[in-house]
Amino acid sequence: MTQPRIFVTRLIPPQGLEMVQSLAAEYDIDVWPSPLPPTDAELLPKVKGVIGLYCLLTDKIDANLLDAIGPQLKVISQMAVGFDNIDIPAATTRGIPVGNTPGVLTDTTADFAWALLMAAARRVVEGDKFTRAGKWQTWGPIDFLGPDITGATLGIIGFGRIGQGLAKRAQGFDMRILYFDRQRYPDAEAKYTAQRVDLNTLLRESDFVSLHMVLTQETYHLMDDERLKMMKPSGILINTARGPVVDPAALYRALSNDTIAYAALDVTEPEPIKPDDPLLTLDNIIIAPHIASASFQTRNKMATMAAANLIAGLKGERLPNCVNPQVYDK
Ligand code: DGY
Repeated sequence: MTQPRIFVTRLIPPQGLEMVQSLAAEYDIDVWPSPLPPTDAELLPKVKGVIGLYCLLTDKIDANLLDAIGPQLKVISQMAVGFDNIDIPAATTRGIPVGNTPGVLTDTTADFAWALLMAAARRVVEGDKFTRAGKWQTWGPIDFLGPDITGATLGIIGFGRIGQGLAKRAQGFDMRILYFDRQRYPDAEAKYTAQRVDLNTLLRESDFVSLHMVLTQETYHLMDDERLKMMKPSGILINTARGPVVDPAALYRALSNDTIAYAALDVTEPEPIKPDDPLLTLDNIIIAPHIASASFQTRNKMATMAAANLIAGLKGERLPNCVNPQVYDK
């Protein structure tokens, strides 16, 4: 007799995989074996008829795909905190709970945002390239200068868990902390000596601007020509949120015209960045391949949390972390 099927869209960290594979007595488990995600055309036949889908932020889960999967689908579990790749209203309309992995990647992602901030300010990547290119001839009193971090002003856009995590790190460097968020966070303001300001004030007064908001229609290309011009010419922009919150063409103009000094990105638009993207020709930018949550411990935690969501959904139980709890109101 054929068993209900589960599709896992990539090889996931071992602890999560073990949990999913422990379901093998009751379900047929299909794990996409390639290091690259399935294309839309490859995904479709794999997901048709599945009862559970374990997916990643690289998979586009839209209404058409949900229709192609079929009405037997009981749960979508994404191994990420962000879920802008999934059409949530379409899943909700169909009564399908969608799980994500909040909380477990907060510190790891804030660590990486902090690493990018420091690497950009102190020109670590440029220095490494210079050394490897055999250009290091002497100690240079005016070489590789960058701004101090200690005592500088940090502007955090999006003051949720990760934004606050960055503020916590910045406190250790005696930074003045400004934040912009639709919501006010009085406890975090007190805890991190952070001040809520409007966006323009944050952009004008900050030495470092770090982005931590979710990608929505409202935040798409939030950092455009106009907003980049509001930053200080010495300003450094850090993005560990989602690529499309920054307009890449505007960022290229800002970095090449000295409108701002430097950028450090973990996320790009598109992802992966195209090899001929003009941003890659600049020296005053660091571009990492979306690895802010990539620690052994955190990726294992994300994988097990997503597996727990999947298992709960298959059993018809409430997902421990559900992004559309409205499905349970019906
Ligand atoms: C997420 O989980 O949304 C991050 O972008 C990847 O770790």
